[in-house]
Amino acid sequence: MADKDRGVNAGRRRFLEAVSLLAGGLGAAVAAVPVIGFVLGPMFGARRTAWRTVGTLDQFPVGQTVPVRFEAVSETPWDGVTARTVAWLRREPGDRLVAFSVNCTHLGCPVRWEPGANLFMCPCHGGVYYSNGQVAGGPPPRPLPRYPVRLRDGAVEVQAERIPIG
Ligand code: FES
Repeated sequence: MADKDRGVNAGRRRFLEAVSLLAGGLGAAVAAVPVIGFVLGPMFGARRTAWRTVGTLDQFPVGQTVPVRFEAVSETPWDGVTARTVAWLRREPGDRLVAFSVNCTHLGCPVRWEPGANLFMCPCHGGVYYSNGQVAGGPPPRPLPRYPVRLRDGAVEVQAERIPIG
């Protein structure tokens, strides 16, 4: 092969390497944008909340803990059914209302209320919470988060907000 051909081939190889590196870097940057947005978004986004009516006071017997469904604060307009969420609501004597997140603070599994034991139980890794949401046993690192609740003209309202899971 002539020296001239070797020089052309080497030049072409360097050019193709540069194009490959550029295309790879561009692809990685495009793929990283949503990941960076997901990780950093909560730090810069405004905390969104909304009051949701979950029923009237007379629907909640004193001393009982029941699930209430409501629309979460939507992250995006296309959240659809994933925007629906649940909380455990208890009416305590004196019409005090308490609402707990259903998500275990270990890895986010939904906890269930066991009225006989007076405990919240997590089916995933055996996490147990007392009726006030404090950790009773197992791996959960923190108590169950609570939603603010208010009574307005006889309607029970839960303040939907984004609660970090895990
Ligand atoms: Fe509840 Fe692990 S997710 S104990």
